[in-house]
Amino acid sequence: MNKTFRAYQLQKTNGTVTGAVTTLTQNDLPEGEVLIKVQYSGLNYKDAMANMPNSPIVNQYPFIPGIDLAGEVVESVDDRFEAGDLVIVTSYALGVSHDGGYSEYARVKAEWVIPLPQGLSLAQAMLLGTAGLTAAMSVAQLQQQGIEPNSGPILVTGASGGVGSIATALLANLGYEVEASSGKQASHSYLTTLGASAVMTREDVVGEKVRLIDKQQWVGAVDSVGGETLAAVLSKLKYNGVVAASGLTGGIEIPTSVYPFILRGISLIGIDSVYCPMETRKSIWLRLGSDMRLSDEQFKQITNRVISLEELSSNLPTLLEGQSLGRVLVKI
Ligand SMILES: NC(=O)c1ccc[n+]([C@@H]2O[C@H](COP(=O)([O-])OP(=O)(O)OC[C@H]3O[C@@H](n4cnc5c(N)ncnc54)[C@H](OP(=O)(O)O)[C@@H]3O)[C@@H](O)[C@H]2O)c1
Repeated sequence: MNKTFRAYQLQKTNGTVTGAVTTLTQNDLPEGEVLIKVQYSGLNYKDAMANMPNSPIVNQYPFIPGIDLAGEVVESVDDRFEAGDLVIVTSYALGVSHDGGYSEYARVKAEWVIPLPQGLSLAQAMLLGTAGLTAAMSVAQLQQQGIEPNSGPILVTGASGGVGSIATALLANLGYEVEASSGKQASHSYLTTLGASAVMTREDVVGEKVRLIDKQQWVGAVDSVGGETLAAVLSKLKYNGVVAASGLTGGIEIPTSVYPFILRGISLIGIDSVYCPMETRKSIWLRLGSDMRLSDEQFKQITNRVISLEELSSNLPTLLEGQSLGRVLVKI
């Protein structure tokens, strides 16, 4: 079978990268054991970075971005999967060095594929996507470190973004008191509806200047911002506090010192949802369909909009401006 299909593909011509919907055949897809008819994908910060003219993460063209996909198996030469299975794939090399999810068909390595977890539809799985997996891994780490709902307030930074919105909802559902910080005034009622008990500005977290050690405010934090924000969080966590750090929208350098660690026993835990082991990945996805499942109402609340392949070229760049709220679902 070598039928034609549509995909959003990046092309590099005379040093200029442009993205457009194009027609391909299955022979154009990379090698892999599982061929999937993609039904949904999502928009992640990394997808916007892949779409940049001088992308720091894509170095081969033509290329199909999209780090997440959900769909139905069409063919598999790996006996763990068969035609008709509903599956999801998030991260690994997908949409970075292996053609990704912005395509009606994708061929991927069997070792990246996860059966659609019970309790989630394909669309809901992609409303979560890599952002949801990252948020859930962050929350699971706080739990593993002994931070319980009655331990005290938890801060979520970059709260109106994908990772932040989902972390806010997950923590609130599990009974934690969530304080959300956001750079968008317009996001305050959105975050309260998702379950935050208080919403503050980015400046409220950082203050006039980041101190090496500061007044103790939170027992834990989910930080997808990095930079000065993470430094401020480290300085303001309560004794034995824990921060799960996953992102860099606020910068890659952390102007901190050893003080939070040696004076307050603070733990800084790194979250990587890209190459996290399959066993962990599966167990977190199972939780996202069960005890961590967002309510149907919360799925609606985090859905910023649903877009088509044709709308990707105008939607991807806006994510880098930090103005997005919640999640954008891509219906293939
Ligand atoms: N480690 C991993 O495995 C992993 C996985 C997924 C994502 N990530 C990273 O996590 C971060 C968030 O991803 P996402 O998909 O949630 O992105 P997103 O939906 O674009 O959200 C990013 C949010 O960060 C905040 N922000 C933007 N610019 C900022 C700035 N200059 N200073 C402070 N805050 C800023 C904004 O929220 P407010 O306006 O509410 O402050 C924005 O909505 C990205 O850096 C991404 O690369 C890492």
